[in-house]
Amino acid sequence: MTPDVVIIGAGAAGLMCAIAAGQRGRRVLVLEHTDKIAEKIRISGGGRCNFTNLHCAPDRYLSQNPHFCRSALSRYTQHDFIALVAKHGIAYHEKTLGQLFCDHSAGDIINALLKDCKEVGVEIRTGTSVSSIKKEDTFIIESSAGKIEAESVVIATGGLSIPKIGATPFGYEIAKQFGLGIIPTRAGLVPLTFDPHILDHTKALSGVAVDPARVKSEDGMHFDEAILFTHRGVSGPAILQISSYWEPGQAVSINMMPGQDALEWLKEKRKTSAKSQPHTVLADVVPSRLAQTICDEIAVQGRMADQSDKVLQTLAIRLGAWAVKPSGSEGYRTAEVTLGGVDTNDLSSKTMEAKAVPGLFFIGEVVDVTGHLGGFNFQWAWASGWCAGQYA
Ligand code: FDA
Repeated sequence: MTPDVVIIGAGAAGLMCAIAAGQRGRRVLVLEHTDKIAEKIRISGGGRCNFTNLHCAPDRYLSQNPHFCRSALSRYTQHDFIALVAKHGIAYHEKTLGQLFCDHSAGDIINALLKDCKEVGVEIRTGTSVSSIKKEDTFIIESSAGKIEAESVVIATGGLSIPKIGATPFGYEIAKQFGLGIIPTRAGLVPLTFDPHILDHTKALSGVAVDPARVKSEDGMHFDEAILFTHRGVSGPAILQISSYWEPGQAVSINMMPGQDALEWLKEKRKTSAKSQPHTVLADVVPSRLAQTICDEIAVQGRMADQSDKVLQTLAIRLGAWAVKPSGSEGYRTAEVTLGGVDTNDLSSKTMEAKAVPGLFFIGEVVDVTGHLGGFNFQWAWASGWCAGQYA
């Protein structure tokens, strides 16, 4: 096949772009360097793929240019993707907070995309790596399958997270080669780690969850979702969410009693549960292992009635506004996404085409647009891929 469009990366964005361009009658070739297709879709959402979110909106995305994602998200919406899912008869459900998951398996989404690709004659070559892309009258792509010429090239190589299933910096390198800017990248939606002096207290809590907790970043962003202690630090949806707003050296504040005044509650308990042990009282609002750890850490002695205002204040801070400084994050090894990427100032928000390089497009996670946890990242992949597919 002599393609009109070569898409590099057979992930969520690449496959959606291939379908959209194929539907316009373009001959589309997708090159994937691993032997598998859309491996991130397969492992997503615990194997059930949280494929979109009912509440998708631009304010659920981080980017140096927060308005960039607006156009694509409004032209290919969550409802468009839900219609695709319904067309293929895929059973799905809302888990929580508008998050839509497959009832059976993420493989259903991959099969649906592959079926639509086949219908419009898209060719997908796996195990094919690209060594260079040059622009003459057309694009000349040197690949392990030989030289390929095409009018349009779409870079859909994703971010840097989970290198063991195929992530590479290829997309950023091509962007740099063609003079596009790169917003520095870092791991997002990732568990945070603690220094040994904090781990001394929290390690034994590995597996303990608080649901919900309110987790706040220094810039005031906050999320009310579960947190989970791990043997390295802390994870869970609220922590993954805040990790995208956290910068090294900053603290995060964790409120394990959101919606309640911890000090007032403790003072009330001093009266109403005067004879109880403090850790038993705390176990009304947090898991008992955590209640015991907090009381041990603060060296609380005696019954509730014996506690001074000062002790109650210390307990209230630990329960309601625990400011903890993570030492780092677990990094790209476990991160769900990569923050930063191709500078959106160098791309058209309507077409995803590089402003200075006609015919060269960037879509999906390689672009500096990163969603919150909850199906927002796939929705960006579908929307940006669909938009590029209208023009590539
Ligand atoms: P994606 O990474 O999907 O695809 C890129 C493709 O390009 C890959 O197939 C890769 O092998 C290929 N490639 C890379 N370099 C190449 C090269 N040099 N040559 C050729 N091919 C190359 N999001 C969400 O909305 N809901 C969810 O449930 C989850 N769950 C989830 C779980 C886990 C464990 C992770 C790691 C991530 C998620 N995500 C998620 C995030 C989501 O998976 C991610 O944002 C999208 O897959 C991004 O789609 P892209 O197509 O941009 O990249």
